Amino acid sequence: MIYTSTLPDWLAQVAARETHIAIIGLGYVGLPLALLFAEERFRVTGLDIDAEKVATLNDGRSYIHRIEPEHIATAKKAGFRATTDFAALQECDAILICVPTPLHPDHTPDMSFVTSTVEALAPHTRAGQLVVLESTTWPGTTDELVVPMIERLGRNGLRVLRNDDSDDSLEGLMVSFSPEREDPGNLITPRREIPKVIGGVDTRATRAAAALYGAIFNRTVAMSSPAAAEMTKLLENIYRCVNIALVNELKQLCLAMNIDIWEVIDAASTKPFGFQAFYPGPGIGGHCIPVDPFYLSWRAKQFNQPTRFIELAGEVNEAMPAFVVHTAERALGREGKALAGAKVLVLGIAYKRDVDDLRESPALTIFELLERAGASVSYNDPFFDEVGVGRKYTLKRRSTPLDRVGEFDCVLLVTDHSIYDYEALVEGSKLFVDTRNATRGMVSEKIVRC
Ligand SMILES: NC(=O)c1ccc[n+]([C@@H]2O[C@H](COP(=O)([O-])OP(=O)(O)OC[C@H]3O[C@@H](n4cnc5c(N)ncnc54)[C@H](O)[C@@H]3O)[C@@H](O)[C@H]2O)c1
Repeated sequence: MIYTSTLPDWLAQVAARETHIAIIGLGYVGLPLALLFAEERFRVTGLDIDAEKVATLNDGRSYIHRIEPEHIATAKKAGFRATTDFAALQECDAILICVPTPLHPDHTPDMSFVTSTVEALAPHTRAGQLVVLESTTWPGTTDELVVPMIERLGRNGLRVLRNDDSDDSLEGLMVSFSPEREDPGNLITPRREIPKVIGGVDTRATRAAAALYGAIFNRTVAMSSPAAAEMTKLLENIYRCVNIALVNELKQLCLAMNIDIWEVIDAASTKPFGFQAFYPGPGIGGHCIPVDPFYLSWRAKQFNQPTRFIELAGEVNEAMPAFVVHTAERALGREGKALAGAKVLVLGIAYKRDVDDLRESPALTIFELLERAGASVSYNDPFFDEVGVGRKYTLKRRSTPLDRVGEFDCVLLVTDHSIYDYEALVEGSKLFVDTRNATRGMVSEKIVRC
């Protein structure tokens, strides 16, 4: 370990792959990031408060479906290890924070994971280190929450470097924000090709972070401040949330007008400019789209500024599970069956196709609504053999084998995993409600699209 005292030394250390990197939070974001750096021959230490995850990784096993144990074994050979001990940070030159930023039940930001992380890391920081917050958050978090906490709790009056400090010396800590833009389940865009946005508290922090991330991402985008980088991430996700709400609303109109919204979107997509396709569904899920916009609407209130698009999009998207359940109820009704007492199989409960992530999944709300209406609900999902109790759900069920679809009054497709054989599923079902257009092109009286 060589402690550097100037920025050129720091950059040279990165170029020589001598930078020791700590990743705090080894979840869906932090673990793949740790493996990418390890692949690039950096020494990586992963920190997590979950001792079970730490033990799993140190045993060379994986807990994320798309990460093969071989990746972890390769990283271990390059020096990767996981720990729960924050004292390990003293050895590290760069500390990247990838902890959760969920919402409280009243839709306000729950910053407790970020603040407990900063509390735990601050006593182990030293001059010349780079700290980067990657967790999605409200604009102003790095400057107004993270930096003051580090300066208050850090050792021996350690300061965070600001632009009024002298040139290239690193007599304090460098702090940046760099949002994670990963798209889980996206096999088309390699992570390396997603440009990495960086906003440092000062130019040294931006340059150091750009050099570090430049080793694993093909392009970095330097911004003028952490707040601008924080806002960039929110703009991206709000753009997505609002456009999904728009097509969800238009889908309902198209259904009433007997127009196929999917055909319309495909046709509109042929326009070479000014249109980007978004697709309707049973509601939004995951740790980002249903959550992040509310970080901004919460922050906007402090500036007395309205965020009407965010509120409206939230309203439309959150109403989709109820729309899906009503559609299933009407379809059953046409066959002389009531939803109360009906046997319903929810097909796919992950929040989107081909991921093993249940967070904020619309399937959980659909489950709840169906049960409240008196239906007897089962599920199938290749990624979840069983589901117990978690944040906002108590399913306590095992996945139903697909050869039993014929036993159900209604099969309700919520998540269109690519492993499903839709022709066979429709064939074996009594009624097939499709919220994803997975049955496109199929002609069957059993299919109800919504
Ligand atoms: N999942 C995604 O696709 C995605 C994409 C872009 C951005 N993000 C953002 O990245 C951040 C992390 O999301 P995630 O999906 O990886 O979350 P996650 O829940 O999968 O992982 C977070 C990890 O942090 C650990 N942790 C919590 N508190 C800690 C602490 N004080 N110290 C050390 N470890 C701690 C947890 O045990 C967990 O392993 C969030 O802000 C999220 O909004 C996520």
